[in-house]
Amino acid sequence: MQSKELEQTLVLIKPDALKNSLTGYVLSQLSEFHSGLRFAGLKVVYVSRMLAEEHYAEHRGKVFYPSLIEYIRGRIHYPDAPHKQRVIAIVYQGPDAVKRVRDLAGPTNPHDARQEKPGCIRSLGTVVPLTDAEGKIIGERMDNLIHASATPEEAEHEIKLWFRTSEIPPFMRAFPVQQNEEVHFYYKDDKLYTQHEPGSTCVLAPGDVMWESDITALGLISEGKQAPCTLQAVVAKYLTNETPERQ
Ligand code: CDP
Ligand code: MG
Repeated sequence: MQSKELEQTLVLIKPDALKNSLTGYVLSQLSEFHSGLRFAGLKVVYVSRMLAEEHYAEHRGKVFYPSLIEYIRGRIHYPDAPHKQRVIAIVYQGPDAVKRVRDLAGPTNPHDARQEKPGCIRSLGTVVPLTDAEGKIIGERMDNLIHASATPEEAEHEIKLWFRTSEIPPFMRAFPVQQNEEVHFYYKDDKLYTQHEPGSTCVLAPGDVMWESDITALGLISEGKQAPCTLQAVVAKYLTNETPERQ
């Protein structure tokens, strides 16, 4: 649980905001003057399928889910331009960070945002009808410019999903970290290894500092035990901006 004063939240500037050159506007709305919050981490991310699916795991099975995954990966707004498919991921820190950013973002549905809170960030979004193969409308997708964590618990999960410990300055880390003494962990094709496998990615080596909960989860997973999160939720951040998947 985070202290209120140093509370953190995750913001994603989504591909529709990037396409419409609203990045500066969003950063300005969320600036310390308006929000009372400070940057604790910031990066440009190519969103792999793994990261997108972990981030939106709670929406799996819903009618808008496949389209939502394509949207956050930039494949709706930049279908033919892989070099533009990215989001900006930001950790904000300060008193009541989660609620303050949600308030500035406004309601999820841009129509509701315009009705209930004209001027909020999401009031500049759009709602797009979704159709099946025959062209029948089956639902809608909300292109609402930014993601903002909904609760402090969700913020913790999402910050650990998107950011490595080393991407947040040492005195701004809101969650326990641990230095690994001797274990190695490698990831390849949905599997975890304790010794190097050709083609694998090293996610933890001696001397590395990692979220404590990630080290615990990797230990449990490597012993075949139930862990509090999936293997993908730990490793996705080590695979972003690496070789893109061909899909
Ligand atoms: O983003 P927020 O937490 O406000 O809403 P959510 O219910 O967690 O949904 C996540 C994202 O899915 C939204 O921000 C929308 O982009 C999208 N969504 C959608 O396209 N259609 C819906 N009926 C609900 C959500
Ligand atoms: Mg949500």
